[in-house]
Amino acid sequence: MRGPDKVIQTVSWKNGRVMLIDQTALPERLSYVELTDWREVAQSIRTMVVRGAPAIGCTAALGIALAARGIIAQNRETFTKRIAQIADTFRAARPTAVNLFWAIDRMMNVIEKTDGNVVDIKDALITEALELLGEDIESNRAMGRHGAALLKDGDSVLTHCNAGALATVGYGTALGVIRSAVEDGKHIQVYADETRPRFQGMKLTAWELQQDNIPVTIIADSMAASLMKDSKIDAVIVGADRIARNGDTANKIGTYNVAVIAHYHQIPFYVAAPFSTIDPSLPTGRQIPIEERESVEMTHVEGIRIAPEGVSVLNPAFDVTPAELITAIITERGVVMPPFDEALEKMRAPATVEA
Ligand code: MRU
Repeated sequence: MRGPDKVIQTVSWKNGRVMLIDQTALPERLSYVELTDWREVAQSIRTMVVRGAPAIGCTAALGIALAARGIIAQNRETFTKRIAQIADTFRAARPTAVNLFWAIDRMMNVIEKTDGNVVDIKDALITEALELLGEDIESNRAMGRHGAALLKDGDSVLTHCNAGALATVGYGTALGVIRSAVEDGKHIQVYADETRPRFQGMKLTAWELQQDNIPVTIIADSMAASLMKDSKIDAVIVGADRIARNGDTANKIGTYNVAVIAHYHQIPFYVAAPFSTIDPSLPTGRQIPIEERESVEMTHVEGIRIAPEGVSVLNPAFDVTPAELITAIITERGVVMPPFDEALEKMRAPATVEA
C-alpha cells in the first residue's frame, strides 16, 4: 500500500487555484489541471475531467469559493445575487449525482449564516469548501472501516465504474472499503468491469488499484454473469450517485445489470456511499433524474468511429438499482440493512442523549 504521503488527492486547493487530476488523461498520464477561472471549473465537471459524485460536489464548492474571490461587489446583496447565478451554472453541470446539489447548497447556506461584509463571506466560503474536502476523506475512511468487516480474507470482489479515490477527494467509497480491508491484512482480489461507454472501470479503477498494488483484473461488462456462475465472485461493491429514501440507488449505467445477476447467483451486493448521496426529498428511485450524454461516447472509442454513420444511439449515463436487490448500504455512520427507509431515517436523525 502507498504511504499516507502518497495518497491520491483528486481535488485540491493550491495557492488560490483549483487543482484536479485530469481523469481524461488516465491511465496514459497522471497530470493535473490548475484552474484560476470558475468557468473552467464548471466545464471540467461537464466534460468529466473530474467525475464521481463526491468529487464533483467538492469541485463545485471550490469553484464557488474561487468565483467569490473574483466578484467585485460593494454590498452583500449584489454579491449574493451574482454568486447565486454562478451556483446555478454549477447546478446545471450534471443532473444525477445529488452530492453536487448538496455541496452547492452548503456553500449557499454559508452566505446566509455569515455576518459581516463581502470579504468575510469570501473567507467563509473558502473555509467551508476546504471543510467539505476534509470531511469527504474522513467519511470515506469511516465507510471503509464499516464496510471492511463485510469482506473476508481471500474474497474476490466485483466493482463497476470507479468509486475510488478518483471519484472522491481521496480514498474512495467502494474502493475505500476494499482499501480498508487490505489495510486490515486481508487478501482481496478485485474484478473491475470495463464500464462502457466511458471505461471508468478499465481506465480508472484498474489504474488506481495498481497504484496501491491491490490485485485487479479487468473484465468486459458482459463477462460478470459467467464469472459469478463459476463462483469467482464473493461480493459486489459499487458506489452511488443518488439514493432515494427507500434505498433505490442510481449509479453508473450497467450497475442494475450487475445487481440482477448478483441476486440470481445469491452474491451479496453492497452500495458504499456517504450520507450526502442520500436524497431525502425522493421517496423512490423513479424520481431520480438520469443524465443522457452525447452519442459520440457510444459511437467512438478514443476518437475513432466504431458505429455506422447515422445509427440511432441511446446513452443514459446512469441506471437505478431497486432497493430489493441491495444487500446493504455502507455509509460513514455504519452499515444499513433493509428495510432501508426506516434504517436510513434512524441513522440520519441526530443522536438523542438520554436524560
Ligand atoms: O459518470 P461518472 O464517472 O461521474 O459516474 C460515477 C459513478 O457512477 C460512481 O460510481 C459514483 O459517482 C460513485 S463515486 C464514489
